[in-house]
Amino acid sequence: MDQTLAIIKPDAASRALTGKIVSRIESNGLKIIAMKLIHMSKDQAEDFYIEHKERPFFDSLTDYMASGPCYVIVLEGEKAQLQWRDAMGATNPVDAADGTIRKDFGQSLEQNSVHGSDSPSSAAREIAFFFSELEIM
Ligand code: CMP
Repeated sequence: MDQTLAIIKPDAASRALTGKIVSRIESNGLKIIAMKLIHMSKDQAEDFYIEHKERPFFDSLTDYMASGPCYVIVLEGEKAQLQWRDAMGATNPVDAADGTIRKDFGQSLEQNSVHGSDSPSSAAREIAFFFSELEIM
């Protein structure tokens, strides 16, 4: 079994889409093994997205991620990172396939409703960023 980090971003949390997104998680056979509501500071958002530090969208992305509450979630399942990324769809909602979360709910490239780890090593780092071992079932 693999684990991955999912985030229900501020645009989706503020539009009361959490239940619908959790339903997509569960209907994809992924299991929620930890979940909490947080409101990141700008510093925390910058630490979390540190790999994008040199990208032109870094400041705007981290402002947005610190703009309101979001849900951080640990998912478990076979090939969890791949499965969750398939359920999310392409980063830009206009490119996302029909039936994916970003196609159905994403508002823009930045406000694209959900995040998922892109590899086993990023999953391990991202899960440890938000959760202690005691918080994960
Ligand atoms: P996410 O999967 O959370 O990872 C990094 C985020 O940066 C991405 O989703 C997008 O929301 C955001 N982003 C903003 N602009 C861009 C861009 N030009 N290319 C890629 N990601 C971008």
